Amino acid sequence: METVLVTGATGLLGSSLVPLLKVRGYEVITHARSGDADFLADLSVTDEVFKLLDKTRPDIIINLAGLTDVDRCEALPSQAYSANVHTLENIVNWIRQKNTHCHLVHISTDMVYDGVSPHTEDTVSLTNYYAFSKYAGELAAASAPSTILRTNFFGRSHCAERTSLTDWLFRSLSNSDTIQVFDDVLFSPLAMDTLSNMIELTIRKKPVGVFNLGTHGGMSKADFAFAFAEELNLSAGVMTRTSTDQVTFLKTYRPKDMRMECSKFENTLTIKLPSLRNEIKRVAKEYYEEA
Ligand SMILES: NC(=O)c1ccc[n+]([C@@H]2O[C@H](COP(=O)([O-])OP(=O)(O)OC[C@H]3O[C@@H](n4cnc5c(N)ncnc54)[C@H](OP(=O)(O)O)[C@@H]3O)[C@@H](O)[C@H]2O)c1
Repeated sequence: METVLVTGATGLLGSSLVPLLKVRGYEVITHARSGDADFLADLSVTDEVFKLLDKTRPDIIINLAGLTDVDRCEALPSQAYSANVHTLENIVNWIRQKNTHCHLVHISTDMVYDGVSPHTEDTVSLTNYYAFSKYAGELAAASAPSTILRTNFFGRSHCAERTSLTDWLFRSLSNSDTIQVFDDVLFSPLAMDTLSNMIELTIRKKPVGVFNLGTHGGMSKADFAFAFAEELNLSAGVMTRTSTDQVTFLKTYRPKDMRMECSKFENTLTIKLPSLRNEIKRVAKEYYEEA
């Protein structure tokens, strides 16, 4: 079995992905900047990256590390560059300098899209610093043998420090907290377990290039929230539909339509991606059963 180094392994996605890879029999090495991982390193520091990779010599690197706080990226673009671009430059420089056969899987975002959907991989539209830095990170990743997955995800968080979209919705609906949900932001995310399975498929097949990875039948965040409430059999009366221009708490512009066209991934990996409605149904069942 190949050795897989997961960087940023203790975050939201890593906490779902790492257990799945271990169950599938991979030798998994976990990395984080701080906390409970096999190796600790700041990936924006070249020496630390070279030490980490010289020591671990992975066959595959799955890079989940990055600065995911959109407002922070907007306020501190140099931190966004450091976390979302320079980290990739360091990893790729190691792969190229050491002339290894290491394959890089880099997780990017659907936020590189905006405007009329469904978006194919060549229709990038960068509307905030987070998107800009993630796209620049993709360009760095592409200079080594790599798979770049543009995605978005939801599902129960297994990471103590991170709350997912559905964790927030489930808590609000269960506690009857009044919340606002956006009618004007459309997306096509995958459930985290499906995404983890697709990443595992990716490391088996190692396709090179940029791929959209999401669901069929994307919808607005408001419709998503109402569908989730319906599947949970919880009252949706606490939710109000609104639009991003009617609220004051959003500091940074969010793309309005990030729905992706994913046939490149489906055709290359010969797999059919699920519908968003079915993913919501499955994930709601998980919350329902674990409640
Ligand atoms: N969350 C989403 O909804 C979403 C949607 C689309 C795409 N993505 C992408 O998916 C990937 C995983 O997301 P996630 O939500 O699992 O992220 P996350 O929970 O924020 O975890 C990211 C991890 O990266 C680490 N990190 C940041 N800068 C680092 C550095 N310089 N050196 C080493 N580690 C560093 C962070 O460590 P610290 O805790 O020390 O900062 C954190 O543990 C990200 O690349 C993100 O852009 C996420």
